[in-house]
This record gives sequence, C-alpha cells and structure tokens, in this order.
Amino acid sequence: MEFTRKGFLITASAAGVQMATAGLPVSLIQSQGTKRMEPKLVKVPTEADIAKALKTDGRGISAATHKAHLTLWQGYANKTNEIRKALAELDTDPAKGNQIYSVTRSLKVNYAFAYGGYINHNVYFDTLGGEGKIGGDIEALIKEAYGSVEKWKADWKITGISSRGWAYLGYDQDEQRVFNYAGDAQDTFPAWNNTLVLAMDVYEHAYFLDYQIARAKYIDAYFELIDWDAVNARLAKGR
Ligand SMILES: [Fe+2]
Repeated sequence: MEFTRKGFLITASAAGVQMATAGLPVSLIQSQGTKRMEPKLVKVPTEADIAKALKTDGRGISAATHKAHLTLWQGYANKTNEIRKALAELDTDPAKGNQIYSVTRSLKVNYAFAYGGYINHNVYFDTLGGEGKIGGDIEALIKEAYGSVEKWKADWKITGISSRGWAYLGYDQDEQRVFNYAGDAQDTFPAWNNTLVLAMDVYEHAYFLDYQIARAKYIDAYFELIDWDAVNARLAKGR
C-alpha cells in the first residue's frame, strides 16, 4: 500500500495517535530512526575516589573537609546526569529556543556549570594526596614558562588568591606551554585547546574548616600535597 501523509494523518487521527512536533506522530518519528540515543552518564564519585586525598589528613587538609567536599562533587555528577537525561528528551523545535529564557537555555547553561564542576573536582581530587615533590615533564614545562618552580609557585599562589573559584594549570596544545589560569566559576573555561593538568579549588568550602578565611595558608599547605605523578600522567595523556 502506498503511504501518503494525508492518508496517514486521517488514520492516525482516527486512532487517537499522539501528535508531535511538525505534525508527525511520535511513533512515526521513532520508527523513522530519529529516536534519541540513551544519554551517556558520568560516574558518581564515592568515598573510594577521595581515598588518596584523605592522606592529607593531618598534613594540611582534613578528612572532614574532603568528606564534606565529596558531597558537593557528587552533586555536580548527579546534576550532570540529570541534565544529560533531560537533553536526550529535548524538544529541538527552533521556535522553542530563546536567549532570554527557554528550556534549552536553562539546560545548556547549567550543563556547562554542572559538567565543568564535575571535571574540575575530578582533577582536584586526582592530583591531591601526594608529597608535593615535583619532577618529570611538568617540571621542565613549568621552568620553561615561568623560569623556575619557585616563580611558578608565586604565580600560582597569587592566581589562587585572585580567583573566585579555581586556579588551573593548563597545557596549551597550540603553544606547547603551560599557563596558570584564573577561574571564577565552575564554567569559567579559560581557553580552548588546553589540557587541564592541575586544578586547585579556592572556594571557601575547600579550606574553611581548616583555615577559616586564610586562603594563602591553605595554598601554602596545598603545595605540599600535590601528587605530581598524577599531574605528569594527565600531561602525558593530554599532549
Ligand atoms: Fe569544590
């Protein structure tokens, strides 16, 4: 039997088929292969994921701080997944888009905040729990860009003090150099073509229990807790 849109609509209407965007029934859209894919979800971190960071207890950042911090990290993961599921069902009719307010705007803008926060904390906890002993390729890159490790530390410290949320050490793929970036929020991404190899959380929740408002003291302690092997591993993966 030859299919015609008119004939189909008459049949569908008579059968009470649910109508979707563009006047086509949902069942037909799906049968034509436009059914949305299942969203890929991120792993929600558990206490096992902060086991290495917990080694800083008594050496600068307390276990209590890290355990409270874990709940915030989990929040970014859960919201990332929630938004991914919502995006999988997004009505992409362009008439529904709007830059002032729209469902798409809300999902997309907050997705960058949620997933950005998830990644930032992945890197933060992955690169904590070490002995602060620098070496390997990252040391050479830091010396090339900043002259010495001490000069890099001075720049990193004042970057952290001057940021509202994060200090990022990025490896620039184009220039093949590292740079200390300031990040004011979870979705303040400094530049494209950078591999994030070290991320220092400077929101108060990362240190208030241990240092109250003395962020500089937290940063001094942080230097002694960096796992530079993890930083070098991230660099090797991202070069
Ligand atoms: Fe945080």
